[in-house]
Amino acid sequence: MYWKVQVLEKYVIKGGTALHGEVEISGAKNAAVAIIPAALMVDGVCCIENIPQISDTDMLLTILRDLGAKVRFLNKSTVEIDCTKVRYQDAPYELMRKIRASYYLIGAMLGRFGSAKTTMPGGCNFGVRPIDQHIKGMTALGADVSVKNGFVYADARDGKLHGARIYLDKVSVGATMNIILAAALAQGRTIIENAAREPHIVDLANFLNSMGADVRGAGTDTVKINGVDKLHGGSYAIIPDQIEAGTYMVAAAATGGEVLIKNVIPRHLECISAKLRETGTIVQEYEDSVLVKGASTLRRVNIKTLPYPGFPTDMQPPMGALLCLANGTSVITEGVYDNRFKYINELRKMGAEVQVDGRVAVIEGGRRLTGAPVQACDLRAGAAMVIAGMCAVGTTEVEDVHYIERGYENFVGKLRELGADIEIVNFSDDSDPSEKIVMIS
Ligand code: EPZ
Repeated sequence: MYWKVQVLEKYVIKGGTALHGEVEISGAKNAAVAIIPAALMVDGVCCIENIPQISDTDMLLTILRDLGAKVRFLNKSTVEIDCTKVRYQDAPYELMRKIRASYYLIGAMLGRFGSAKTTMPGGCNFGVRPIDQHIKGMTALGADVSVKNGFVYADARDGKLHGARIYLDKVSVGATMNIILAAALAQGRTIIENAAREPHIVDLANFLNSMGADVRGAGTDTVKINGVDKLHGGSYAIIPDQIEAGTYMVAAAATGGEVLIKNVIPRHLECISAKLRETGTIVQEYEDSVLVKGASTLRRVNIKTLPYPGFPTDMQPPMGALLCLANGTSVITEGVYDNRFKYINELRKMGAEVQVDGRVAVIEGGRRLTGAPVQACDLRAGAAMVIAGMCAVGTTEVEDVHYIERGYENFVGKLRELGADIEIVNFSDDSDPSEKIVMIS
């Protein structure tokens, strides 16, 4: 363990270039951050392909190593994880605190060890993000769960979890996946009602089933899990990232370019394609790619974000940036989170005219944005600022880009390939140097 001064990075973007060319989509972040913890439950060797090279997956693989797993990259996106020798022990809590997906370690550790100690999850800050539905599920499966001093403690009352019927009061991706994890090795049958239906939930279920689990109905609002005694090793390839693909689709549309987005599942993008077509953008679907051609002028649209198959909340900030350029007034209603409009203040620094009232944003479009120094407030907000910067007149500097690097593999490299004038610049700000000291374990 040693200390070093953290080098700060920002993106410097010169606007006005339309994106052209082809981009390859990486593995789905929100599938990978559940499948890596799921490997902890496998008494054998898992070979997982299409792992995105992002900081969230790096952190989870480090946590698994600290729990005794052997982790070996066979190439840049294929990892071999051997959890036969893992033993229940304290994990690196300072890493857990940084990511939202650390909550999956509760389900995985309960399933494997009958006991779990994790930190309350971290992750992007857009309003209250409780885990009450996770706790409801684990309790129903027979665990005593308590939250003390920022830690979550869970212990299976009689050493092993047992099946239960669980109705989720709120459609929750994380709670659905966490309960699937814990139930996979429980005794008996578990039924999750009012489950979330996102593609990454189906991906987790397919991963578990390929390792010997019995999960049915993933992708519908009712998921049934018959617990098995153990999970064996095997191989699995993670699905392409729906939100990364959507981000490049919006970037192509906003800059008025023409981009072929490759290695996608068009069915997962239907809502995004439909909304972009409403703006006048051309979207052509092929077997595993979509071609996006920007329109000369963008039409205003209304958006309401909803759980899948509705318009994804994670695509709300990128679309917010695009709608600043569309002719007319657009209305965005955020149907999932109570405060996901922090990025609007950053867009206003670039000249955007937007009124926000609670979960509704009214965007007066049809104006050019002007480059400015802005911040990435969170992962998808950061992507929105990059899109705005590529469309703006002049130069935009985006700080706090570590958020973006949590969820987009090689974001700057892929955009430069498409012709964007964007570069990563190291800088030191005048804040207290001690704040930039980080521990490297
Ligand atoms: C996952 O977060 C994703 N993160 C988020 O992606 C995504 O925005 C979200 O699902 C919705 O699709 C990961 O998968 C790591 P939820 P999660 O539980 O699981 C409330 C990104 O940009 N809720 O579906 O936290 C919650 O407050 C990130 O990739 C409870 O009330 O989302 C929210 O209002 C950002 N109690 C709503 O439900 C709970 O116990 C949906 O949250 C859990 C959630």
